[in-house]
Amino acid sequence: MVEALQTIGDVLHAATRALGDAGIAEPRRDALRIWSDLERCSTADLVARPDERVDADRARRFADAVRRRAAGEPLAHVTGWAGFRHLTLRCDRRALIPRPETEGLVDAALARVRTGVAADVGTGTGAIALALSDEGSFDQVFGLDVSPDALALAAENATATGMAVSLLPGDLVAPLLGRPVNLLVSNPPYLTRVEYDSLDRSVRDYEPEVALVAGEDGLLLTRRLFDEGRAVVAAAGWIAVEVDCRRAAETARIASALAWQDVTVLDDLFGRARYVLARRGSTP
Ligand SMILES: C[S@@+](CC[C@H](N)C(=O)[O-])C[C@H]1O[C@@H](n2cnc3c(N)ncnc32)[C@H](O)[C@@H]1O
Repeated sequence: MVEALQTIGDVLHAATRALGDAGIAEPRRDALRIWSDLERCSTADLVARPDERVDADRARRFADAVRRRAAGEPLAHVTGWAGFRHLTLRCDRRALIPRPETEGLVDAALARVRTGVAADVGTGTGAIALALSDEGSFDQVFGLDVSPDALALAAENATATGMAVSLLPGDLVAPLLGRPVNLLVSNPPYLTRVEYDSLDRSVRDYEPEVALVAGEDGLLLTRRLFDEGRAVVAAAGWIAVEVDCRRAAETARIASALAWQDVTVLDDLFGRARYVLARRGSTP
């Protein structure tokens, strides 16, 4: 189909139609992004030269990528990257694709703590840890994950971005015991099994289940973070956790019951209660 076409404009038009027919929500945007990634140019540059001729090899590579996207593969896997705050991160099946709402968690955390030691629990691609290292003035930033695959991807992203992070394997905050932190940030898995089962296949088939499911009530890891986090957050330090908006109020109650102070619920960019932040008392 696409191989026989002659110009960038024609190729993009055919790809947009194929993606639209496959039910992709923003077919033109995805077609432009895939093509500009393969061509290593800006989308504006592409749009400006619709009459440029496309050789068969380039058209075939583009058609293959469009086919993967039309089959439901996430855009970040087809192109191999996603933007997160000021960083470009490598993405593949080894970890969750960073979501725009998680960028707000970084803002909320940095508004409270910018120095000392920070840790990102369940770092995945390394997104939060790398952004904290990039934008904060921390002496050290830890990125922790139970998944060796995710940590390997986070290490690649640390090298690619040049950000200094200490990556440690282990269960939640266990690797931090004996190393108090001033800021504990986490976007933990927070879906129930039933919610996970009803997710779109484009998530379930491509992103790791360990990144998404947290027990029967979706709060298993969130509850443990506020509980076990008390052993590693230094006096007057902060915890900042992304939550499912349906369970933000319940999470705030859990935090208060565990003697966290200044418990605050903040909305994400879509206006949904998404972040729960709290401070350790000044005396341990
Ligand atoms: C929702 S993803 C978040 C990834 C990344 N921080 C982000 O925001 O894009 C949750 C991450 O927690 C990790 N994880 C799940 N259970 C864990 C546990 N018990 N201890 C440490 N990490 C865990 C998963 O491997 C996954 O990388």
